[in-house]
Amino acid sequence: MKYAIVTDHTVAKLYGSAALRYFGAHAQLFSFPPGESSKTRATKEWLEDALLECGFHKDTTIVGIGGGVVTDIAGFLASTFYRGVPLILIPTTLMAMVDTAIGGKNGVNTERGKNQIGTIYQPSQVIFDPRFLATLPASEWMNGFSEIVKHGLIAEPSLLKTFDICEAIEVKRRIIASDIYDKGKRRLLNFGHKVAHALETASGYQMTHGIAVAKGMVIESRIALELGFLNPSAFDTIERFLPPASFELDPEAVFQAMAKPIKLSMLKDIGEPYSFDGEYCTPVDPELVRRILYDYALHTASIR
Ligand SMILES: NC(=O)c1ccc[n+]([C@@H]2O[C@H](COP(=O)([O-])OP(=O)(O)OC[C@H]3O[C@@H](n4cnc5c(N)ncnc54)[C@H](O)[C@@H]3O)[C@@H](O)[C@H]2O)c1
Repeated sequence: MKYAIVTDHTVAKLYGSAALRYFGAHAQLFSFPPGESSKTRATKEWLEDALLECGFHKDTTIVGIGGGVVTDIAGFLASTFYRGVPLILIPTTLMAMVDTAIGGKNGVNTERGKNQIGTIYQPSQVIFDPRFLATLPASEWMNGFSEIVKHGLIAEPSLLKTFDICEAIEVKRRIIASDIYDKGKRRLLNFGHKVAHALETASGYQMTHGIAVAKGMVIESRIALELGFLNPSAFDTIERFLPPASFELDPEAVFQAMAKPIKLSMLKDIGEPYSFDGEYCTPVDPELVRRILYDYALHTASIR
């Protein structure tokens, strides 16, 4: 078995030699520039060509070691290389540990939006080692933190006090196990993400995923509040908990970046999602979404 270790340049510098030692003589490292702008079809194509040129065949295992960008690309690559080869994921950011490495979703962005091309393909193994977090910059902790808060809001309120990484992983694992193919309960994991993906796209990926998710959860909760689904005291908690949902982006650009129709997951209360007859999301009038995006853009001071 040959191991193709896929990572970005930052993680390669920090952990590349250790990964090569761990996977032995038949391992080779392939790295690309860090950041969301690498999560493209072009990077996947470059990796495919590089692997083929280096003689990797059907007996390849892809090892993705890095943050969510790496795990998303490595997963997509593994799912199509020779029609699917084994995948090992080693998450090295908090975001990747509590979210991206679990559940098998992968993909790349296009100019038209986030994660539009990809597959659902489960890793054969995920190796968690919190020691990777020792080198993680403080700004990246915030990104993982918002996904832990999301898990707390949709399923396990105790996480809002403990921020326990293992418990956050377990929440995601439980939800995925109940709905691997995203037909029902798994959609809850998209809470905050419809707005978040539009924020990321409209910012040209200057806004990180985690920050966008934090803002997305507040804005989508505001929509649920206006529609009478969300308990007002729960909205106050969500708003207090997450950073202000203000943004300097053009609200029209954010609205235009949002894929239509707009369907959102909603909460009744902290830890209590609406099932919407097992759909776990509901269609929302786009004009309401547009109005709330404009409100936030115009009245940033009032929500600080
Ligand atoms: N597939 C899924 O289910 C899923 C879920 C949530 C998010 N995502 C995706 O995950 C991506 C965001 O992931 P992310 O926040 O991990 O970003 P990222 O992969 O861009 O990593 C952030 C930065 O941290 C660096 N880094 C990684 N590990 C490090 C370490 N141990 N020490 C120092 N630096 C390190 C990286 O090089 C990068 O510069 C987005 O593309 C998002 O769409 C996917």
